[in-house]
Amino acid sequence: MSGPVLLGLETSCDETSAAVLCGEADLLGHVILSQDVHQVYGGVVPELAARAHLQRIDEVVAATLDQASTRLTDLDALAVTAGPGLIGALLVGVSWAKAAAFALDRPLVAVHHMEAHLFGPVLEDPDAHPPFVALLVSGGHTLLLHAPKWGDYVLLGETRDDAAGEAFDKVGKMLGLTYPGGPAVERLAQEGRADRFTLPRPMVRGHQTPDDDEWYDFSFSGLKTAVATLVRTLDRDGTLERERPHVAAAFQEAAVDVLVTKTMRAVDQTGCCRVLLGGGVSANSRLREETAARLGPNGSVLIASPRLSLDNGAMVARAGLFRFMRGERAEPDLSAHASLPFPGLIRRRR
Ligand code: KG4
Ligand code: ZN
Repeated sequence: MSGPVLLGLETSCDETSAAVLCGEADLLGHVILSQDVHQVYGGVVPELAARAHLQRIDEVVAATLDQASTRLTDLDALAVTAGPGLIGALLVGVSWAKAAAFALDRPLVAVHHMEAHLFGPVLEDPDAHPPFVALLVSGGHTLLLHAPKWGDYVLLGETRDDAAGEAFDKVGKMLGLTYPGGPAVERLAQEGRADRFTLPRPMVRGHQTPDDDEWYDFSFSGLKTAVATLVRTLDRDGTLERERPHVAAAFQEAAVDVLVTKTMRAVDQTGCCRVLLGGGVSANSRLREETAARLGPNGSVLIASPRLSLDNGAMVARAGLFRFMRGERAEPDLSAHASLPFPGLIRRRR
């Protein structure tokens, strides 16, 4: 396989990751270093994340190039996540990439972190191209999109408060699990019965129509409060320890139900029965299973393996390639942005 050789760099949160991608799908090298320092604090500490990126980025890139048997001078271009994310963390990747691009005299492409998540599945599945309905669920975002083609995105719904991953992380904390809460809640939920407790499905009501504001939007803070109240009651009754797996299962079921219900509304309304799941929460097996079950045999779920669903440099390289081929180049004064408009995204018309 041939094509431009790109280095992708990801440092928006707590993974330091680099990848060398040749053409569209030939992943020559890929290293993801997860920062475990945050486990001590039960959540990502932005200053520590930035420092850990700074300490490790040279080694991560060197190991990636080594794996790819590629030298820096073999690269045709560099791509880096410029936002959204933690500003100090982003700045490490952006500064590194700018310096390298300048020293090597190679073009640099700025990548939007959430657009990069859209490119996770296509690295493994050559069919994972638009059109699709995309549910992007991460620690900071919950977005429901319709993508008729790459670069053209219609925003159908988003969260009004907490992101889906944030809700998993907070519930994990309430149940005494380690950070990140998502995988830990999923593991605990496997031992529990989801129907043991009934939890609310925020913004899902029977009489809603597509004209309602809440038709596609999400809210997870009420669900999180319901879990907090339940946990307090069980703790007072002295039954919390015994009930923890059931609480995890009931929460996971409620969150997955809301996510899939809204996604299926998008499928029905757009007539597009290809659903892409992206972002860290898409590593959740219940979410994958339930999406496939409700879509049925005529639909397809486009999804990456967990390694490419969580934050990684390969998706940044692939999204960067798309932008690179469109002729996009970052200016030499490129900066990092904690919040950044999603490129090509327009709001749905009702
Ligand atoms: O995309 P990502 O790696 O980083 C951000 O861009 O935020 O997503 C991280 C989020 C965390 O909130 C984490 O708890 C959640 O994804 N997560 C999961 C699972 N694996 C990771 N949530 C539910 N089930 C999982 N298996
Ligand atoms: Zn992410």
